[in-house]
Amino acid sequence: MPEITTRIEPIVERINELRIKRQAVILVHNYQRGEIQDIGDFVGDSLELSRKAAGTDAEVILFCGVHFMAETAKILSPEKIVLMPDPNAGCPMANMVTLRQLRKKKAEHPGAVVVCYVNSTAEIKAESDVCCTSANVEKIIASIPEDKEIIFVPDKSLGDYAARKMGRELVLWPGFCPTHHRILREYIIQQKEAHPEAKVIVHPECTRDVIELADAVGSTSQILRFACETEVKEVIVGTENGMLYRLAKENPDKKFYPASPVADCPNMRLNTLEKVLWSLEDMVYEVTVPEDVGARARGAIERMLELS
Ligand code: 13P
Ligand code: SF4
Repeated sequence: MPEITTRIEPIVERINELRIKRQAVILVHNYQRGEIQDIGDFVGDSLELSRKAAGTDAEVILFCGVHFMAETAKILSPEKIVLMPDPNAGCPMANMVTLRQLRKKKAEHPGAVVVCYVNSTAEIKAESDVCCTSANVEKIIASIPEDKEIIFVPDKSLGDYAARKMGRELVLWPGFCPTHHRILREYIIQQKEAHPEAKVIVHPECTRDVIELADAVGSTSQILRFACETEVKEVIVGTENGMLYRLAKENPDKKFYPASPVADCPNMRLNTLEKVLWSLEDMVYEVTVPEDVGARARGAIERMLELS
């Protein structure tokens, strides 16, 4: 059987023609497939991407990530067309809290400040006081007066990490990332035995027992910064495995080992280079947010951007 290979150059060429024609900016999350990262105008973590979305003067934002990220871009730039290459690329964690549940929790804790992780729906952001990402969670929590109770949604692991770091009690929500929870303590121990010189860095969406084994904890771009700056030549990486591409690309002299062989986010993986092209060809799939929800959610996101 002859080997069938797809040449990506013609696809990239056409994407490049269309991005000019559509006046589009292509924003790409650090977990995306390598070939998508390579055509991005900007590649980054959730916080960096929301800053880019707020500041761009492009007509169209093509967001290669998952739905809450594209939705955040739309909330920050409501006058722009925001597209996703695949409308099914959602984040299961974002769907682990509903508006009704959050309102019930708020009623149980009158006067509490609601901090919501950016991995949440527009409706939940609209019902929250301030957003945070894994890059700025400590700053956001620190900005809230000590005597205020804090409800933290939806990620229990990030909330637990922040609470321990800040020495502060938070009302946690039982949401979690299925991908990061597949990174087990045993895997890290095995990798440390196999690579005794390596440092371990993990994402705060990991469980507490995994975080305890890490030399450093951070958002995807903080992981990248750590990898670039560390003296050691080997790093064990406890986050979604798409991250390994950028780490290796920007640090060709270092070795990176995934903490888990199964930490792939199926949602992030739904986007492909072909879908990016179709998206710009057909101007699909447009992300919309009802105006009133968007306006309230914008308040929570802008508060976060001011504080960080
Ligand atoms: P970052 O904000 O660190 O890029 O993470 C987003 C995410 O979805 C992690 O699973
Ligand atoms: Fe959501 Fe986890 Fe995928 Fe991040 S890695 S988008 S939190 S499911």
